[in-house]
Parts: sequence; structure tokens; C-alpha cells
Amino acid sequence: MVEAHPGERFSTPKNRGVPAGAPGEFAPLKLGALHVWPPVVLAPMAGVTNHPFRSLCREFGAGLYVSEMITARGFLNGHRMTHLLASSRVDEHPRSIQVYGSDPMDVGEMVRRLVDDGVDHIDINFGCPVRKVTRHGGGAAIPVKPRLMARIVRAGVRSAGAVPFTIKVRKGIDEGLTTHLDSGRVAQEEGAAAIGLHARTAAELYSGSADWNAIAELVEAVDIPVLGNGDVWEPWDALRMMRETSCAGVIVGRGCLGRPWLFAELARVFDGCEPERPPDLGRVGEILLDHARRLAEFFGERTGIRQMRKWGGWYTKGFAHAASVRDRFGRIESLAELEELVRELPQDEPFPLRALTVNRAKRGGTQTVTLPAGYLDDRDDDTPPKSPHRPEELEAWERALASGG
Ligand SMILES: Cc1cc2nc3c(=O)[nH]c(=O)nc-3n(C[C@H](O)[C@H](O)[C@H](O)COP(=O)(O)O)c2cc1C
Repeated sequence: MVEAHPGERFSTPKNRGVPAGAPGEFAPLKLGALHVWPPVVLAPMAGVTNHPFRSLCREFGAGLYVSEMITARGFLNGHRMTHLLASSRVDEHPRSIQVYGSDPMDVGEMVRRLVDDGVDHIDINFGCPVRKVTRHGGGAAIPVKPRLMARIVRAGVRSAGAVPFTIKVRKGIDEGLTTHLDSGRVAQEEGAAAIGLHARTAAELYSGSADWNAIAELVEAVDIPVLGNGDVWEPWDALRMMRETSCAGVIVGRGCLGRPWLFAELARVFDGCEPERPPDLGRVGEILLDHARRLAEFFGERTGIRQMRKWGGWYTKGFAHAASVRDRFGRIESLAELEELVRELPQDEPFPLRALTVNRAKRGGTQTVTLPAGYLDDRDDDTPPKSPHRPEELEAWERALASGG
């Protein structure tokens, strides 16, 4: 177990001696006309980075806050929930949306509508490792076919016009079939404003450590900005990633689940300052309730509060005295019930150092990636994959997609 000592920096041992950013050491992230400081991007996360969570993170810090993945099919078919998830509020600027689509026409049309609606940045997800998606040739299977990926990116870039269009990929299917360098070449040739790399293969899912060397390799290979992604848990991890790989910015995923103040810490270290100590349990409870009220306001109380069930566990992860109430978070039905539960938490328990290292949201484990039969026989094929047609299959595919990238 890792313990902090009085007066010592609140960090795991690997980050104790890491200096904060020096003046001029890092530059704002440039995505077309957008200049993002600090060069920090909230990772698109399905079921997580909706407007309520983005607005909370934004109040703590600065940077670019990307929506969860919005499927082009659902959007173009006018699904009510898809449109709610793609929606924003007037206070959100820059407004950033991640798209999922494997058909160039769909992507082009969706991007055109988003631009008309005033979106400032659009990303596309080519990293979803879920079996139901890759076995149809979608998600992480797309970069295996660079000409197909090029068609999709071209359609997105054309429709985006002056709005920066970026792509997000994984390192490849598995160690025997890495695709990040091909993806970088396609992104650059087709005019993408940047490429984000989650430095794990689809086979690795979320397990092990991200391979930051692959990020450095991609930075060497392309002239467009590279956004490094994977394992930024503490603010100094972001500085180390940028120093070790020369990437232009970092994408932060699981580290901010139940820890939206991580964006305040990131802003501090990029500005050369030490961050404040993380909040004690009393303050965490206040932040949790703030988050819950935003969700209730956006989705309606019933849907919003149900979403808080998972968040209760993430916010209180690692706190010894929250263990007794943690399973009750999983059953809450109303804001009043949640407020009552939060009142029972011991207010002054300090934030535990072990909470920096515990996993949130995704279990470990690896997989053998399933691709369509014969998929690797013709990697130059640029035919878009057929998404399932039967309604129940389409629904299962949308649900699988909604579980991430
Ligand atoms: C709950 C969850 C949902 C995710 N959903 C998406 C998604 O919609 N689109 C995407 O490109 N990646 C998605 N991801 C992957 C993240 O964007 C990010 O690449 C990954 O978590 C690695 O970064 P990290 O080590 O900082 O967590 C998801 C990850 C999690 C944990």
C-alpha cells in the first residue's frame, strides 16, 4: 500500500520527484483555430462524458471536454436519447463531439449537421474493442483497412470544413497486428487536425500498462499533433507522458472517474504550480451531490439518479469509512435518498492515497479480437462494413458500442 507522509507531495512514489511544468516548456494544443491550454483533453467515455459531467470537470479545470461517442446511425435516425447525448448548453465552449460511424456517407452527413449546429471540434472513434462491433468490421477493426479508414476520414474532414476533425485509435488489433502508424499516415494525408492514440491494442482492452513508446513512435512518424492516451492517473503522469513522448497533448480517461478535480490539478501542474491536496470525504460528498443534481436536471431525476449508482462507488473508492454504504449507492432511486446517504459519510476522512491507483469502470483481462471471416485477406478493400439489419441485432450493436472504445 502507498502512504503519504506529512509535508510530502500527495502522489505515488513514481511521481514524487517530477517537476511541475517550467515556463514555456509546454505549448497550447493547436487543433485548427482552437488553442487549448492546458493541452489536456477529457477522453470520450460512453455513459460518462455527457454534458453534466463535462460541465462539472470544466468548472474545475480547463482544456477540451469531449462528449461520449454518438453513433451516426442513431443520430441520423433521429433517436431521442442519441440527440440528447449530442446536445449541449449555451455555456459550453468549445463544444466537442465524438462520432462513431463506419460508413463514409453517414459520417459526412452527421458531421455536416453537427457543424451547422455550431460544434467546435469533432472526433471519430476507431478504437472500440467490443466483440459485437469488431466482428462486423466496425470499431478497432477499421484501421486494419487503411483505405476504408481514409474514405471515412475524408468524408468527415470535408464536411467539417474549418472545424477541426480528429481521429482516435488504439495501437492495433494485437501485438502481431499493430496499425497506429498506418492510422497516423491516413490521418495526416486526409487532413485530420490531430490523432489521439490509446496506446493499447484491442486485445489488451484496459489491462496492463499503456505503451507510451508507441506514442513516441507515432509522434516521430507524423507532422500533425499526437494526443497521448493511457494511464494518466495523477497530474504528473501527464507531464511525464509529454516529456517522454513529445506528444502535443494528453487525453485523460479513467483517472477522472469520481475525481473531476483532477482537471484542476492538471491545470496547476501545467502552470508550474503544486496542486492542492485532494478533497476529504465531506467535500467529495458535496461534489458527488453537485454531479447528481446536474444529471437529474439534464436527464430527469429518475434516469439521472440511476446513473449515479455507478458514480457513488467511483467517488468513494478507497475511502475506508465509505465501504459500509457503498453497496447502497447501487440501489438509490431519488436525489433525496442520495442526499441522506451522503450525510451518513464521515466528513473528515482524508482522501486516501490508494484511491489514486484503484481501477474504476473497466475490469482487467484481455481478449482474442474477433474479426469478420476472411477480413485480413484483402486489407486494401475500402467497402464499409455492413452494420446488422435485424432490429434486435442493431439494438445489441448499439448497446455494445455504448460500452466504449
Ligand atoms: C467507461 C468507458 C467508456 C469509454 N467510452 C469510449 C468512447 O465512447 N469512445 C472512445 O473513443 N473511447 C472510449 N473509452 C476509452 C477512453 O476514451 C480511453 O481511451 C481509455 O479509457 C484509456 O485512457 P485512460 O487510461 O486514461 O483511461 C471508454 C473508456 C471507459 C473507461
